[in-house]
Amino acid sequence: MTPKTFKIKSFGCQMNVYDGERMGELLAAEGMAAATDSEDADLVVLNTCHIREKAAEKAYSDIGRLRREDGSKPLIALAGCVAQAEGTEAKRRSPMIDLVVGPQAYHRLPEMIAEAARGGRPVDTDMPALSKFDLLPARRRATPSAYLTVQEGCDKFCTYCVVPYTRGAEVSRPWEDIIAEAHALVGGGAREIVLLGQNVNAWTDGARGLAELIRELATIDGLERIRYTTSHPADMTDALIAAHGEVEKLMPYLHLPVQSGSDRILKAMNRSHTTDTYLRLLEQMRGTRPDIALSGDFIVGFPGETEADFEATLQIVDAVRYAAAYSFKYSARPGTPAAVMEDQIPRDVMEDRLRRLHERINIHQLAFNAGKVGVDTQILIERAGRRDGQMIGKSPWLQSVHVDTDARPGEILDVTLVSAGPQSMAGAVRERIAA
Ligand code: SAH
Ligand code: SF4
Ligand code: F3S
Repeated sequence: MTPKTFKIKSFGCQMNVYDGERMGELLAAEGMAAATDSEDADLVVLNTCHIREKAAEKAYSDIGRLRREDGSKPLIALAGCVAQAEGTEAKRRSPMIDLVVGPQAYHRLPEMIAEAARGGRPVDTDMPALSKFDLLPARRRATPSAYLTVQEGCDKFCTYCVVPYTRGAEVSRPWEDIIAEAHALVGGGAREIVLLGQNVNAWTDGARGLAELIRELATIDGLERIRYTTSHPADMTDALIAAHGEVEKLMPYLHLPVQSGSDRILKAMNRSHTTDTYLRLLEQMRGTRPDIALSGDFIVGFPGETEADFEATLQIVDAVRYAAAYSFKYSARPGTPAAVMEDQIPRDVMEDRLRRLHERINIHQLAFNAGKVGVDTQILIERAGRRDGQMIGKSPWLQSVHVDTDARPGEILDVTLVSAGPQSMAGAVRERIAA
């Protein structure tokens, strides 16, 4: 039976969320309706993540849960990075899967669904030279803060990471396509655009880089805020740093993962930076934009990580004073060089280090937020808060700010930040700026 309703569940990074939105638009253009729940959907698309074992395993446990009480099940599409990594093997692992589609092939979903509805079990994990973006319907509606993928894939081959295998080589989308999509998003209600890429600052059209792209986007009327993520230290150009000092719409926030504070471990990870080059980049950035909120990612328990290596990580956290940071236990991924390195770290050691790192990061997050108490700024309202009459917006520094207001998502408010927690702030509205 051809499905009439669909549900897309996205896991993983923002790029997967973006892909999920575009798959939804594609299915809607085919005449299918979005279901609120997988329970009522004829088709469920699991848009999966392969980055850590737990994320990958989640895909399979979710599939099991799609079996309904009467024994029936929806049509199940495995999409995203697990689909790419496992391909045909996924069908063997779970007989419930009806089709497998990789992140570079999802423009083919409609024909694959039709084939699956006829009883086939198609798999497409090709990475065609022709961009899927050219084959997707144009964007019509957007959230106040909208994602826009400008770059995909990764050539860096950090020794722990699956992304170069699941997303392929670094590819930049053409300038004109990005500008056109940005206009469509702003026309559809976006006030902020978050440019996405596995290595977003590697974006180039040969002559121009991300800094030029940002300057062009800043000329779009109605677009108030620009962000970009995730950046790699190796691609952090002087031009991009300079843009932070000059482009008003470019928000003072930079996610620049370092992964470890130990040069020995950074080398084993095949990160191309040292702690010293990384810290110098941040110094340069703070010279240009003193209030910039810095964020990063960390892996604890990489093979061979000693207590001294880990302490060096705590030290770099103190040196940078991150406004936000994300930390993960190392997860050995099939096919990556680190998975077969000697001296894999025991789970309890990793857990202890992760807990200590969290504590340290929390201290700095709270300090950053506390430092903003009393500051007058603007927030972009994104969604309703938990209490009646409460809304949540984002500050320029990407803090979640709770305010009492009847303003709607998409409005920008003048607020005073009045109190701080480690994860969010409270604000008081000073003035409502026309939406
Ligand atoms: N391209 C980005 C990050 C992509 S993955 C970058 O290079 O910064 C997001 C984060 O997941 C990484 O920054 C890293 O901290 C974490 N990660 C990646 N592979 C991992 C693994 N095998 N185990 C644990 N964490 C991992
Ligand atoms: Fe993975 Fe490294 Fe590429 Fe980031 S830069 S996606 S961590 S290989
Ligand atoms: Fe996960 Fe793939 Fe993103 S592995 S982090 S969904 S690129």
